[in-house]
Amino acid sequence: MEDIEKKIKALRDELNRYNYEYYVLSAPTISDFEFDRKMRELQELEAEYLEYADPDSPTRRVGSDLSKEFEQVAHKYPMLSLGNTYSEEEVRDFYERTARSLNEPFEIVSELKYDGTSISLTYEGGRLVRAVTRGDGVRGDDVTANIKTIRSIPLKLLGEGYPDEFEIRGEVLLPWSEFDRLNKEREEQEEPLFANPRNAASGTLKQQNPAVVASRKLDAYFYYLLGENLPADEHYENLRIARTWGFKVPDVMRVCHSLREIFEYIAYWDRERKNLPVATDGIVLKVNSLRQQRNLGYTAKSPRWAIAYKFQAERAETRLDSVSYQVGRTGAVTPVANLEPVLLAGTVVKRASLHNADIIEKLDLHIGDQVYVEKGGEIIPKIVGVNKEARSSSIGEKVGFISVCPECETPLVRMEGEAAYYCPNDSGCPPQIKGRVEHFVTRKALNINIGPETVEDLYEAGLVKNPADLYTLKVTDLLRLDRWARRSAQNLMASLEESKQVPFERVLYGLGIRFVGETVAKRLAAAFQSMERLERASFEELVAVDEIGDRIAQSVRNYFADEDNRALVRRLGEYGLRMEISDDILADASEKLKGLTIVISGTFTRHSRDEYKEMISRNGGKNSGSVSKKTSYILAGENMGPTKLEKAEKLGVRVINEEEFLKMLE
Ligand code: IVH
Repeated sequence: MEDIEKKIKALRDELNRYNYEYYVLSAPTISDFEFDRKMRELQELEAEYLEYADPDSPTRRVGSDLSKEFEQVAHKYPMLSLGNTYSEEEVRDFYERTARSLNEPFEIVSELKYDGTSISLTYEGGRLVRAVTRGDGVRGDDVTANIKTIRSIPLKLLGEGYPDEFEIRGEVLLPWSEFDRLNKEREEQEEPLFANPRNAASGTLKQQNPAVVASRKLDAYFYYLLGENLPADEHYENLRIARTWGFKVPDVMRVCHSLREIFEYIAYWDRERKNLPVATDGIVLKVNSLRQQRNLGYTAKSPRWAIAYKFQAERAETRLDSVSYQVGRTGAVTPVANLEPVLLAGTVVKRASLHNADIIEKLDLHIGDQVYVEKGGEIIPKIVGVNKEARSSSIGEKVGFISVCPECETPLVRMEGEAAYYCPNDSGCPPQIKGRVEHFVTRKALNINIGPETVEDLYEAGLVKNPADLYTLKVTDLLRLDRWARRSAQNLMASLEESKQVPFERVLYGLGIRFVGETVAKRLAAAFQSMERLERASFEELVAVDEIGDRIAQSVRNYFADEDNRALVRRLGEYGLRMEISDDILADASEKLKGLTIVISGTFTRHSRDEYKEMISRNGGKNSGSVSKKTSYILAGENMGPTKLEKAEKLGVRVINEEEFLKMLE
């Protein structure tokens, strides 16, 4: 094979793999900048060496996020991507090319490029009928049920003057504040963190359970209207009008009449975007007149009338000093790069996340390497590449993943389908033992007044090896240790005593069962009401509870299958911790809804949806997400979904309102 041909093939394979990691796994291993650079290299080679053309080359498509669980729908108008530029020269080229082609005055609408996941909504007769992801640009996943949970998306349009049928496209986004909250929750659960809000948004949209989607507070901004009878012949005006129908159309769009105005817009937003509630990664420039857009037309991949200018991610080069491996409460092992301190985007960076073994391998890291660190949309800076040219002959040791636990030397295991390694020695590995006690005492769990250093001291002194040991501590034990005065020892005793009043669901959360966070603990507590019943619950009984899936159920079963855990729980009960839900909640409970399956739909005034859900389970009923033959009632509020209503009518399921439901409980 010719060298050029080999090179083209290698680039195609590489880009196909990055596409898969990005769109299917939601776990990219390369920066957008690098990806675009490689894509361009391939485009240039293909343009020069036409003899190696391939209809399936990654340059001929826009990437695929198709997944098998959703129904796939063909787009009426293909969802194209935009040409990317990274410099002012390229923006100038675009502007001048457009001027030459049109040969008449034109306007450019400058907009922000939102960094989420794109969506196309179809409205008929003013109602949302379908929401489809980009997919491969030609066909996408029907994610209507999930999209309907996004509160800023109108299900029924406001105002008037909208075409009978049209599409509107925009970006589904997870605001920074939600992203931080979600990752904090995942950190507590030692689940892998989302690298950036974009991955979190696309991952969320692909969830099978709309209730999970709803809990994540996604948002959506719209920037493109398509259809036969649009209200205006200008992009800007169409979007302005779409805003009056109830869509969230950003108000930072600007109509520009010169390159100078465009550059001003770019410079302003490159600074100001840091203060926005959502992630942005560039600017989009679009010819305003739809007539002119039609004249300019399309290339195979993107419109000629629009272009994206990408902001440069802030990046620095520094030395990799060492790699350390941290073992968490659940035994998950996380690799961390220790770096020569370097200034990046206003903060000094000393450590960077390395995510997992696959990423370390791909980077081909050696100790002492000069590495590139980037802080794109990420919270934790990450290593995106190695400056191989800076490698000297005295190149350091290659970084590989460890095979035994750095703390207890137990061989690590990797669960099927997971990228992370775990230390399976949960009963003997010090950071796991200490981590469980630390989790148990946190504010949201038993709220016992000690911090990690004290846990460390108590562990080192051989006094505390699990949460139950805390309740055997005596003032005299503590006084024998360094740094303990009578007063602080007595404070701890009082705090331990108070923890005996902490409600059952927080005791359950405090056990630190994998995947049982605060919300899940509440659900389980409401459904089983006591530790004893939870301990006896079968897998089937667990998954029958609303929002408890296979993964959580299996984890709860595994926990109670372990004799050490059962002994721990027994001891905690003996020391007086609450092992069942409290009497006043029990007093509210009944069997009035026993055997009934109730679907909740719409919005309510007397109680929140979650409260209604709790009421159903507390009174022995079952809450379900979809209407079927088994549904006994639909508890309907305002704006009940039209498909649910239709189905209810077809199956003859009775629809009740809030008042009727509350009467049933009287
Ligand atoms: S217009 C045919 N406007 O960027 C033009 N896209 O690479 C359709 N995006 O898939 C896109 N902000 O997901 C447009 N203000 C904006 C945008 C935007 C973000 C995303 C969108 C699209 C990708 C283009």
